[in-house]
Amino acid sequence: MRTKTIALVPGDGSGPEMMVWACMAAARAALKDDLHLEFETTPMGWAAYEKYGDTLPEESFRRAVEIGTIFFGGVGDPKFDNTIGKEKPAMKPEARCLLALRKEMGLLLNFRPMIYHKELAHLTNVKPETIPDEGIKQVWIRFLLKDSYFGNEDLMQYIPAEVCEKLGIKLKKNVTGEEEMVVDLAYYCRNSIEKYIRAAFAYAKDAGLPLISIDKANVMARYDFWRRIVTKIGKEEFPNVPLMHQYVDSANALLFTPAQLHGVIACGNEHGDILSDGAASALGSMGMMCSSAINPDTGAAMFESGAGTAPTLAGLNKANPIGRILTGAMMLRHLGAVNGAKAIEDAVKKALSMGYRTGDMCSDGPSKLAFPGYMDKVLGTKEMGELILSLL
Ligand code: IPM
Ligand code: MN
Repeated sequence: MRTKTIALVPGDGSGPEMMVWACMAAARAALKDDLHLEFETTPMGWAAYEKYGDTLPEESFRRAVEIGTIFFGGVGDPKFDNTIGKEKPAMKPEARCLLALRKEMGLLLNFRPMIYHKELAHLTNVKPETIPDEGIKQVWIRFLLKDSYFGNEDLMQYIPAEVCEKLGIKLKKNVTGEEEMVVDLAYYCRNSIEKYIRAAFAYAKDAGLPLISIDKANVMARYDFWRRIVTKIGKEEFPNVPLMHQYVDSANALLFTPAQLHGVIACGNEHGDILSDGAASALGSMGMMCSSAINPDTGAAMFESGAGTAPTLAGLNKANPIGRILTGAMMLRHLGAVNGAKAIEDAVKKALSMGYRTGDMCSDGPSKLAFPGYMDKVLGTKEMGELILSLL
């Protein structure tokens, strides 16, 4: 049997409650592929601050990067953001931990698959009749580096200090209170977009799916650049993969007719962040989102929460653990444990088909009338975790 060490970040809010089940499901399912998972806790987030005085303890960061496979429960909690975070903005864990790990490990590709099954159509937030019998696959692949999320230090250094002073422009890290003007400089480099889009095309080719590229090429220079690169690579290197372009605003409208977004969906960091939350909600609930971030060259990977930490549900046994559990399946597939990954996905589907839900997925609305055989059986985090484990 192979052993693989995983850096585990239990995280903030409801993260730890959900991760318990995600880890147990992953560990148990991995045995189907003769893989033994060993979790090494690398604390981060406000939970770590309470203990170590830092949302990103140096040792946690070092070990997590060294291990190279991270199971990340999500960080951030408004309760602390509005107290300690006000005094020490640099400690806010979303940028300090998540973005730092993505940058350090070069996690270029963010996969967020949203799969519609016809038999679970009544759980979605779209009209069930818009889902074809064969289901829908939306494989969101978000470009996870650059864009405006990584601050402005690298480009701001070229703007003379007196110009910044005059315009009231501040570096993100120097912004503390009510500032006059803040600039996030977003830029795309040809080589990183090319690498990203080749990987997205290759995925689409393997999966037999079209590639849908999202941009705002009609008004924004970096998305005009993006569209030209995508078009060229599609034509020259992947002539058999159908390619469509979609402006981000119209893509947003298409979330409600999900079959029109059947394919691999390539999008920039910011667009992908926003659209994938909407896509998960259309599919049923933010709590269903699974997410992985991969460096295609080194294989370093972080299996993320995608949907945040559900801080208002912390300690209440109410958060939906399914997204985290499915993220565990993504981790297994990445580690070559394909039987285990499939077993988790099947177990989740079975639990939902049997009518079990967490509170976020229940409805008293018309879907119940359309599917009178289904009664929501509401479970807590723990009970849903146990049920999925028992179905493995
Ligand atoms: C996500 C999250 C993060 C992001 C935040 C917490 C930095 O919203 O993974 O979607 O925007 O990338
Ligand atoms: Mn997000």
